Amino acid sequence: MPALCLYILHGKLIPFSVTCIALVLVLSLPSCTKINQPNVDFTFNITDPAYVVLSPKGGYMYINGAIVAQTNSGTYIAVSELCTHDGTRVIYEANKNDFYCQKDMSTFTSNGACSGGPSNRNLKSYNTSLSGNVLHVWG
Ligand code: FES
Repeated sequence: MPALCLYILHGKLIPFSVTCIALVLVLSLPSCTKINQPNVDFTFNITDPAYVVLSPKGGYMYINGAIVAQTNSGTYIAVSELCTHDGTRVIYEANKNDFYCQKDMSTFTSNGACSGGPSNRNLKSYNTSLSGNVLHVWG
């Protein structure tokens, strides 16, 4: 028989099953929402003024559903832009070379692997290839 406890509602003692309390707690825990992580395939010239924020090392921008960043070592990386917890855009943290969600503080490695919750799913990782000044992002 499940244990019972009482709580006060409008001055009345109400019996409440511990099982019900546990169920309410479990149902109220945050969970990951199904977030669209699109396939992408695009190129752009990194010297084009439209992409100037990518020029400095550590710069990043959102393009076609991806966040593209230039690391402190000068390579370009890209993952899907929306946090897999609840769909907020992640940011790139050059000093840690990772991606971070400012809403609930999930973290992701530079290749999109979830490294800290509440999210428990990876960002989609995209391939990048620089040929001259043209960056190709796909995956
Ligand atoms: S939306 Fe919750 S951790 Fe990103």
